[in-house]
Amino acid sequence: MRTLIEHGTLVTATDTALADLLVEDEKISLIGANLRAKVERIDQAIDAKGKVVIPGGIDVHTHLDMPFGGTVSTDDFETGTRAAAFGGTTCIVDFIVPPSGGALREGLDTWHRKAEGKAYIDYGFHMIVRAVKDETLREMDDLVRHQGVTSFKLFTAYPGVFLSDDASIFKALVRTRENGGLVMMHAENGTAIDVLVQRALAQGNTAPRYHAETRPAELEAEATGRVIALAETAGAPIYVVHLTAKKALEHVRAARDRGVPAFAETCPQYLFLSSESYEEPGFGGAKYVMSPPLREKSDQEALWRGLKNDELQVVSTDHCPFTLQEKRLGEHDFSKIPNGAPGIEYRLLLTYDGGVRTGRLSLNRWVQLMSTAPAKMFGLYPRKGSLSPGADADLVVWNPEKTLTMSAATHHSAVDYHPYEGCVVEGAPEVVMSRGKVVVRDDRLTGEKGHGRFVKRGELQSNALSW
Ligand code: URP
Ligand code: ZN
Ligand code: ZN
Repeated sequence: MRTLIEHGTLVTATDTALADLLVEDEKISLIGANLRAKVERIDQAIDAKGKVVIPGGIDVHTHLDMPFGGTVSTDDFETGTRAAAFGGTTCIVDFIVPPSGGALREGLDTWHRKAEGKAYIDYGFHMIVRAVKDETLREMDDLVRHQGVTSFKLFTAYPGVFLSDDASIFKALVRTRENGGLVMMHAENGTAIDVLVQRALAQGNTAPRYHAETRPAELEAEATGRVIALAETAGAPIYVVHLTAKKALEHVRAARDRGVPAFAETCPQYLFLSSESYEEPGFGGAKYVMSPPLREKSDQEALWRGLKNDELQVVSTDHCPFTLQEKRLGEHDFSKIPNGAPGIEYRLLLTYDGGVRTGRLSLNRWVQLMSTAPAKMFGLYPRKGSLSPGADADLVVWNPEKTLTMSAATHHSAVDYHPYEGCVVEGAPEVVMSRGKVVVRDDRLTGEKGHGRFVKRGELQSNALSW
């Protein structure tokens, strides 16, 4: 099968060129001028005149079909990857939750079963790790060397659920220095937060806004500084997930200035929403209960600057939706509201409209943040995250002029609310291709459930370290 994408502007993390692109079966095979005259047989042509052709989005932070907060996240691998594709994302990396005290391998098997035969786009896995025992370290080696699971998320938050003590975090960091894996950290001081939560509840402060008040930016900054210090001592790289606050970013910046391989991501919700959302009437604030919580407008500006200056390397979504009914589990106690919000479909839309169109990000930097940097960071590059012969034909034909009104009535996630309800964005995908197969065209699903495959990932790309 040969598909010619012609007359488009090809945009990568480094280059912009008016060129045609030929897809043969699952791969990009040729890039050049006037390919129609040079290629013998073309089965399908896509006219990309006036459009931008980019490598498909890569979302390295999703929670599909995840048991959490007394329930299970609303999107599974079918609805979640379908929503991702509609938003121009062609590969995700989802977090495995292994059984508490059980083998990591058991979690891996469970996640393979959850995803197999369901996904519309390719997917990889990170492994969540709690207490680090000798057996855990041996399992981490096996995951990196043989299973294609090369990154591990540890938490300084959620005591009794996910929290690892500093010794466990340090042991994991030392091991990844040796086996080539990457530690990802959820950095909030969970035990101090618990004291604030208990105090708030004892005072009768049960509404959603107290979720944010009991998780102050200082406690994210403290944990961020601490885990970076542990990584620096271990001589290992570190990646801080869902960074939200200026004070936390200062630790990443200072570490990078010292030459420490410290990396961080933020998420659209921290760029576009603020703590004001917790004031929504009724129980509306529950829609935004996530950890870390939404911050102040001044933090948003610091995050945008961080994205521009490469203090932040990736924008992911932390997609972890719960229905409005499930959010009601915390109607009388904010600490029981399941933590998380939807985002898998909106990442490219929001950051193009609010980043590229406003001049905060160049088109090339946007592609780097959406696709190339996550591919390099998580061992998917150059198979994914690039427009080059031999790469997977995971592509998006992006229409910079298409407008879209965001709404739960029209999004493709199974969740029943939209955090950006009614917002209008300019710039949206027109064609989304996963390994040579058109999965979404003109807002219609053309892909097949089960087309998406597990991708074995490699190590953090060495050139990522010299960014
Ligand atoms: O509130 C959030 N972020 N839910 C998902 C779990 C996590 O900590 O990433
Ligand atoms: Zn987290
Ligand atoms: Zn998360």
